[in-house]
Amino acid sequence: MNNKKFKVGIVGCGTIAPYHVEAFQTLENVEVVGVSDVNEMKAKELCSKYNINFWTTDYRKLHDLNLDVISICVPSGLHYEVSIDAMKKKKHVIVEKPLAINLKQADEMILTSGKEGVKLATIFDHRFDLPSRMIKDALNKDLFGKLILVDAHIKWYRTQDYYANGWRGTWNLDGGGILANQAIHWLDLIQWFAGPLKSVYGKIKTFTHEIEAADTAIAILEFFNGSLGVIEASTSIYPGRQKGGFVYNNLPESIGIYGEKGSVVVEGSKNIKLWEFAENGSHELIKENKIKNGTSSHKELIKAIIDSLREDKEVPIDGKEGRKSLELMRAIYYSSFINKKVDFPFIKDDELEKIIIDKIK
Ligand SMILES: NC(=O)c1ccc[n+]([C@@H]2O[C@H](COP(=O)([O-])OP(=O)(O)OC[C@H]3O[C@@H](n4cnc5c(N)ncnc54)[C@H](O)[C@@H]3O)[C@@H](O)[C@H]2O)c1
Repeated sequence: MNNKKFKVGIVGCGTIAPYHVEAFQTLENVEVVGVSDVNEMKAKELCSKYNINFWTTDYRKLHDLNLDVISICVPSGLHYEVSIDAMKKKKHVIVEKPLAINLKQADEMILTSGKEGVKLATIFDHRFDLPSRMIKDALNKDLFGKLILVDAHIKWYRTQDYYANGWRGTWNLDGGGILANQAIHWLDLIQWFAGPLKSVYGKIKTFTHEIEAADTAIAILEFFNGSLGVIEASTSIYPGRQKGGFVYNNLPESIGIYGEKGSVVVEGSKNIKLWEFAENGSHELIKENKIKNGTSSHKELIKAIIDSLREDKEVPIDGKEGRKSLELMRAIYYSSFINKKVDFPFIKDDELEKIIIDKIK
């Protein structure tokens, strides 16, 4: 493996940025050399906490640092612009979820990555949770038999304050609230486990927050393999409470995969509530009780991305993979607005964009 030193820059120094810095700083021959935030204080704080020497309020100045990789931790509506600029400067890009806020942006990002010969990786850290990998492994070994149902329930709670920073809960910067910000991880997992998707019927609604977009969504899914699925997601659900800052105690989210020969239910992302198969189902990781001792999934995913860059291999969850949950999200919005089932591939994204622009006016 190529052991050269990778120089990394971080754009956006808010809540998620420390997960990236800590992941990079645990790796050998990787150095975070600079950060950027439009809020000078945020940039300085991140530098001082993690011993980083360079900060700027203009992310383009990071391009002068001879960087190899840029990690993008800005509000989701800015992922597109910051990624495109970085890729055009021949930097590999690691972008937080969701990849972008519409399919036009995502497609241009994927195209630019190919054209500039740089990699584009999306952070869907829950794919690296141990239970998620175990489910994928069981699916690959066909332990579930015929898949019948898959479901994801994200019944969370957020205060109005959570949305006060100007970008969360908006169409243009958040990409539409509950689905883009919170549930997107489970949109990604559900399609990763059971996809490709055949059709969706969705409904979005705003219940308890004064926000532009939705705090609640449901979807009925049909997959090409014949199985059916359900997604329920909300940030309006009691009981839930704020623990401090923007840390909340929520009802645990759950994902379930149910087949004719086996079923798995995972709660709170790490807790396997049910793992039962007619045959060969007792996973070695459960036997060894290693499940609670895993490292952070951000760390594992970022390590895997850097390893792939070193070996000049495809990165895990590249732009095309990152696009899949975005396509599902956009199809749910469109279905909700036109009150009809929507088929995949979803080709009405431009029309959806017009509906959203009309709503914002
Ligand atoms: N993987 C996960 O579990 C996870 C968790 C939280 C957030 N996220 C994603 O990370 C991204 C950021 O979310 P957050 O919660 O950290 O938000 P945040 O508001 O806490 O931080 C965003 C930071 O970006 C800065 N910023 C805004 N415009 C900028 C610009 N043009 N240049 C440089 N900095 C700019 C803001 O000042 C702010 O400090 C979002 O896309 C979100 O979906 C992912």
